[in-house]
Amino acid sequence: MWGSFTEHLGRSVYEGIYQPEHETADEDGFRKDVIEAVKKLKVPLIRYPGGNFVSGYNWQDGIGPKDERPVRLDLAWRSLETNQFGLHEFIKWCKKVNAAPDMAVNLGTRGIDEARNLVEYCNFPKGTYWSDLRRKNGAEEPLNIKVWSVGNEMDGDWQIGHQTAHEYCRLVHETAKAMRLVDPSVELVACCSSNHQNDTYGSWEETVLDNAYDDVDYLSLHQYYDNYEDNLSEFLGKSVDFDNFISEVTAISDAVKARKHSHKQINLAFDEWNVWYHSVGADDEQEPWTQAPHLLEDHYDFEDALLVGSLAITLLKHADRVKIGCLAQLVNVIAPIMTNTDGSPSVWYQTIFYPFMQVSNYGQGIALTPKQTVPTYQAKEYEVPYVDSIAVYNPETAEVVVFIVNKANEQTAFTLDIDSAKLGEVVAATQFTGYDIHQTNEDQSMNLQDLKDVNVVGNQVNAQLEPLSWNMIRIK
Ligand code: AHR
Repeated sequence: MWGSFTEHLGRSVYEGIYQPEHETADEDGFRKDVIEAVKKLKVPLIRYPGGNFVSGYNWQDGIGPKDERPVRLDLAWRSLETNQFGLHEFIKWCKKVNAAPDMAVNLGTRGIDEARNLVEYCNFPKGTYWSDLRRKNGAEEPLNIKVWSVGNEMDGDWQIGHQTAHEYCRLVHETAKAMRLVDPSVELVACCSSNHQNDTYGSWEETVLDNAYDDVDYLSLHQYYDNYEDNLSEFLGKSVDFDNFISEVTAISDAVKARKHSHKQINLAFDEWNVWYHSVGADDEQEPWTQAPHLLEDHYDFEDALLVGSLAITLLKHADRVKIGCLAQLVNVIAPIMTNTDGSPSVWYQTIFYPFMQVSNYGQGIALTPKQTVPTYQAKEYEVPYVDSIAVYNPETAEVVVFIVNKANEQTAFTLDIDSAKLGEVVAATQFTGYDIHQTNEDQSMNLQDLKDVNVVGNQVNAQLEPLSWNMIRIK
């Protein structure tokens, strides 16, 4: 399931999705221009409220009359949190963008008691302190939140309440027990390593699963890539690292499963993935303890879109185990959608918007394992295929959709044999190509173009790919 993530961070919530004084604000203070943009991405699941923010968050601060909500220090991002947007606002907003919430609980400064109270507040029908408080606050019916993240990046020293793997798995075991006692139908996501390079990677996963295998349904993976070295082929090769990360965590969880003689499979929730580095210097210059500061406002360039497309293809290749794939984040903060504080356009799309929009809209159904041999190049640590591709069959629309990234800086003939599906005709084919690798899209001049040189012969898809291009071919 494709998804996204919105955190109380910078201008993600305030000046992003919530801005009552904005000219496009609706009766709830939500920006309608942003709602329309988010709907284009068709993300059925949105993780909230953090991220690092959640590890210092009191969810009770964000409920009840707005004029009684406290202003707090957000220690994770050294900002001021007004709590004018909280749980009920998020749920209301999710309905407007056709998404379900993935609610994260604070295991940094809080723990079992807060988590079970939150589940009771959200999901218990009525007649108890917390469920009746929810009703008093305007939600008569239970919110029925199904997916819950149990903590965020607890392996990281930067996290408020950072824990060792042993401390975390004990806490997960007890928190999950209490959450499930309130609502046995919840699905729980435990923290895996916060990145593939973390020192405790591998042993963290093993310890957590050894001790909490039966308590959780998913492991949460996070990974961001950068291109500080300004080396295109190394940068585009990072999809191999991403692929290895997924394969390794799958192998670790299956090894634990075997040792436990278990019949249960742990799936993966890749609930934070993207490129992140452009804004790092600017963030250091931001004044601390302000409201909605300009933080993590990466302006993505063309090469970032190619990598995001390649990472999305990698997720689809692992669709048998990666059941949740949330691009981090959604609006203004390392985001596909940006808002301007004034002037027009009030909303603009980053380069990475286009590949993500195409996979989230059309990368639905059954991923077909490609039979393909493609030339490779040698990056420092990996052998990287010049072309990444995947086909997806959507039984609802009876379409086969092929996604392709050409990482070669030359035209490339592409052929894909799909013998597991009956192919019809090409109904649409687009490409994203021809831009300088460092071009960004503030002026909205970059867009998808038609891919013309494409045909289907029998069960074979053929296309002439432009150098450095993201491509999508829909066949019906
Ligand atoms: O998405 C930005 C931050 O990245 C999140 O708060 C945290 O979970 C990760 O380190």
